[in-house]
Amino acid sequence: MHFQPLLDDIAATLRPELGRGGQVASYIPALARVPAAQFGIALRTCDGEEAQAGDSGTPFSIQSISKLFSLALAMRELGDTLWERIGREPSGNPFNSLVQLEAEHGIPRNPFINAGALAVTDRLVSRCDAKARMLALLSSLCGEPVGFDAEVAASEAATGFRNVALANFMKSFGRIDNDVGPVLDAYFHDCAITMSCVQLARAAGFLCRDGAHPYTGEPVLNERQTRRVNALMLTCGTYDAAGEFAFRIGLPCKSGVGGGIVAVVPDRLTLCVWSPALEPSGNSLLGMKALELFAAKTGLSIF
Ligand code: DON
Repeated sequence: MHFQPLLDDIAATLRPELGRGGQVASYIPALARVPAAQFGIALRTCDGEEAQAGDSGTPFSIQSISKLFSLALAMRELGDTLWERIGREPSGNPFNSLVQLEAEHGIPRNPFINAGALAVTDRLVSRCDAKARMLALLSSLCGEPVGFDAEVAASEAATGFRNVALANFMKSFGRIDNDVGPVLDAYFHDCAITMSCVQLARAAGFLCRDGAHPYTGEPVLNERQTRRVNALMLTCGTYDAAGEFAFRIGLPCKSGVGGGIVAVVPDRLTLCVWSPALEPSGNSLLGMKALELFAAKTGLSIF
């Protein structure tokens, strides 16, 4: 399959829609300033073939896509004990919702909602320098140094009242071991990591190769763990739009409010799309359309 003409075609099809629908995330002030009329797409196959179109090299705030990599780190560090504190069910609620936590004794539904990622981060903070480990993992996976956007991290820390509430609420149930301060600091920094579509398509590569590092082939996760991450992406990776994603796209996906979405075609390729304007659930509007076009034109789907 020739992917470069396909990505060029998707970018050209969507170009007239740039800046015409959806809303850039405004609850994080530093993100509200990002120009909406941008679109990028990049992929990397298991064999190392790459294709890209549009603003595929422009760095953006990866936001909740970081939850994929913090989960991978925690699965590696903790094995199955990780699941004593975190569920594996879709929440059907917004990504920053508090409602299920009280009835469910401070155990978040899954690792991809904010509460779940805070619980994952707490486990990492107990075991390592969580911020440094994330940067080291991502830099290794994409083959280039990546870093945090300090302004975005500060902006999240100044306005992340819901995340502070979520961390304290879980702590009140005894589900957070560390002081909430360092856990929130690591979480906000993870969300503020800056990468491009090309870098994310490379970095997620282990997810289409049974856990093997995209460049070295060493195991990032084992095969079983990798299948589980992909299963969680399909059921929980796009929050209360996960059903819609499965219906329209049919691939495991993880989104972030920076407008990026990573998608996996197991045993074939990883794909990253980015466009900052979001639909109401917090997923990129044009990113969703691009993935839908990709799935329709290639016939690639897990179903
Ligand atoms: O904690 C937050 O709310 C943001 N830093 C991340 C949320 C996010 O990306 C959800 N994604 N769609």
